Amino acid sequence: MRRPFIAGNWKMHCGPSQARDLALAIRNGVLGSPDVVDVLVCPPFVSLAAAAEILAGSTVQLGAQNVFWEEKGAWTGEVAAAMLLDSGCQWVLAGHSERRQFFGETDETVAKRLHAALAAGLKVIVCVGETLEEREADQTAAVVTRQVRGAVGALSMQDWNSVSLAYEPVWAIGTGRVATPEQAQEVHHLIRDLIGEMASQATQEAVRILYGGSVKPGNAAELLSKADVDGALVGGASLQAADFLGIIAAASGS
Ligand code: PGA
Repeated sequence: MRRPFIAGNWKMHCGPSQARDLALAIRNGVLGSPDVVDVLVCPPFVSLAAAAEILAGSTVQLGAQNVFWEEKGAWTGEVAAAMLLDSGCQWVLAGHSERRQFFGETDETVAKRLHAALAAGLKVIVCVGETLEEREADQTAAVVTRQVRGAVGALSMQDWNSVSLAYEPVWAIGTGRVATPEQAQEVHHLIRDLIGEMASQATQEAVRILYGGSVKPGNAAELLSKADVDGALVGGASLQAADFLGIIAAASGS
């Protein structure tokens, strides 16, 4: 059985003071509930230290939203993996569709970020997903296959222990238009099959695949009931503690 994994991607919301408040509400919200779900929050870079302070000693884990692949140097505006570890992160996202769409992220750069993060000792959620145009042109399987192979095609067996995937159809992100549980399951199954081909059967069975795109407390249970949907990467609904805790509660029952 894979342990459910609920991750909040705060995107460009919550400076340090707001991040403290939100982290505190989440920390207190999970306190005392059975420890059956992995919970992660990913604030913006500038709020990592503030959130880390609040989350120290709690079961809620901390992640960043992006990482650069060089270790240090003249890379104005970039943040290295070791810096994220030093700020209290255990996790980082790689290849979020907003990075791909608006900041020129490619399969190649996603792979570079992933390998640098793993080498430094971070765990990584690799994000993939098709656009509406690609879905309507029947390209979903081809696009997701290319993205998965491009990012995680060259991982060692050991690396796989530190990697989760997130399937986030771009047309469902921030739009309120959630994929049906069947649509999600179909792509999650495809991704799991690919992992079997690239790695091993044990890895295929162990790797967690999260769904992302307009996940809310009201639709989480149904999505998570699908065999290959192991968790959720939550944007908008992770900014209200009550909503995020509602999704965690739905995962506790799955
Ligand atoms: P959303 O974002 O939940 O606001 O749709 C999900 C994501 O981009 O990770």
